[in-house]
Amino acid sequence: MVEQNNSNSPKKLGVLIGGSGLIGGTLAHYFKTHTPETIDIRAPSSKKLSIRNAGDIRDYLKRVKPDFLINTAIANINSDSQLAVEVNYFGAINIARAAAALNIPYIHLSSASILPVGDNLTEENHLPITADLNNYAKSKLMAEKTLQYMKENEGLDYTCIRLAIVYGDHDHKIQGFHRLLFTVADEAMPFLFTKRGVMHSYSNARKLPYLVHHILNKREEFSGETYHFVDKNPVDLSELILTVKSYLNLSLPKEVYVPYPLARFGRKSVSLILKALTKVGLNAQLPAEIMFLESFYKTQTLSSQKLAQSSFIDPIPEETIFSILPKLVHYYLDRWTHQNILSTYSDDIVNPCRKDIFEDPHELLESIHGDSTSPFVDLLETVDE
Ligand SMILES: NC(=O)c1ccc[n+]([C@@H]2O[C@H](COP(=O)([O-])OP(=O)(O)OC[C@H]3O[C@@H](n4cnc5c(N)ncnc54)[C@H](OP(=O)(O)O)[C@@H]3O)[C@@H](O)[C@H]2O)c1
Repeated sequence: MVEQNNSNSPKKLGVLIGGSGLIGGTLAHYFKTHTPETIDIRAPSSKKLSIRNAGDIRDYLKRVKPDFLINTAIANINSDSQLAVEVNYFGAINIARAAAALNIPYIHLSSASILPVGDNLTEENHLPITADLNNYAKSKLMAEKTLQYMKENEGLDYTCIRLAIVYGDHDHKIQGFHRLLFTVADEAMPFLFTKRGVMHSYSNARKLPYLVHHILNKREEFSGETYHFVDKNPVDLSELILTVKSYLNLSLPKEVYVPYPLARFGRKSVSLILKALTKVGLNAQLPAEIMFLESFYKTQTLSSQKLAQSSFIDPIPEETIFSILPKLVHYYLDRWTHQNILSTYSDDIVNPCRKDIFEDPHELLESIHGDSTSPFVDLLETVDE
C-alpha cells in the first residue's frame, strides 16, 4: 500500500532528525523510494544540525522552510542525565517550538520505556515522573508531557508514536531485539535470563513509515494524539529466544530459566569484574540493555486497539517478528560477520559458499585494472555538455 498525496497538491518538504538511526534511516529510505514525486525529505546529520542547539534548528529551518518535521533522534540509552535531557527532552521541545512557530505538523517518536509493566497498556498509561526513573525513560516521558502541554497552550499540531521493542534492518548500534539476537548468535547466553510466560510487544520498523506517511496526510484525525505502534500479538520472550537458537542450530542457551535474583547477582558480579579489569588497562562494558534486565522477567504489552480503530490500515498484516526472523537473522549475521564482531559464530551456516574476496589479491588487482578503472561514461557526458 503506497499512499499518495492528492496529485494536485504541491510537493511537500519534510525535515527528518535522526536520519542515520534505525528508525530515521528506515523513514528516509521509505520517503526516498516511495514518495519522490510528492515528498522530499532532508535528513541533516547531527553534525550539521544538533537538536541540542536551538540556534542551529532556527537557522536551518529558516533556510529550508519545511512543511513538516519528524524527530527520531535520541541520545544513547545509557547517556548521563545531561545528554539525555538535552537531546531527548530539550531537543524534542526545541523541534516542537519550531513546528509551532512555522505552524507545521511535528511527528514525535516515543517509547514503551515510559510505561509501567502490565498487560494491554493503553495510550493513557504512563509511569509517574519521579527522580529515580532512568534517564532515558524520564526524558522521553517529560517530552511527551510537554508536547501535550504545548498542544493545549501553544496550538502545537503534533502526533506522538510510541514504539515497543523495535525489529528491522540497518541497526548500526545493535540495540533492543538486535542485541538479543547478537547475544544468542554469539553464544553469550548460556541459559534463559527470563521466566516462563513473559510477554512483550514488538514494533516493526519497516511498517512504521507507512503510518508516518498516513498521519501526515490525515492531520485532522491524528493531530494532538498519541498512538501505540506495535504488532497485534505480543511475543513470549523465551519462545523467541528458543526460535532464534533453533534457527541458528546452536546448543545454547540451555532451556534453563535463571531466576531474577541470581541474574541480578550475576550482573553485579560481572560489572565489578569489568571495573577491576580497567585497573590493568582492559576496557570492557556490559551492553547498555543490561540496565533493563528486570524487564526480561516482567510482562509489558501495549494495546494496539486505538490505532486499529483509526483510518490506518496495516500495509503488511502477515509480517511479524517470527515471519521475518529468517531474513533478519541472515541480514545481521552477514553484517556482523563482515564487521568481525561475532566471536564464536561460524559464517558457514549463513554463507556456505562465500569465498574470501582478498584470498588472491593479485587476481583482484588484475580484474580491477582489466575493466573497472575507466572514468564513468555518464559523468563524462555531463562534463562535455
Ligand atoms: N530502537 C528501539 O528499539 C526503540 C524502541 C522504542 C522507541 N524507540 C524510539 O525511536 C526513536 C528512534 O530510535 P532509534 O532506535 O532509531 O535511535 P538510534 O538508532 O540510536 O538513532 C539515533 C539518532 O539520533 C541522532 N542524534 C543523536 N543526538 C543528536 C543530536 N544532538 N542532534 C541531532 N540528532 C541526534 C543520531 O545521529 P548521529 O548518529 O549523527 O549522532 C541518530 O541518527 C527514538 O525516539 C527512540 O526513543 C526506539
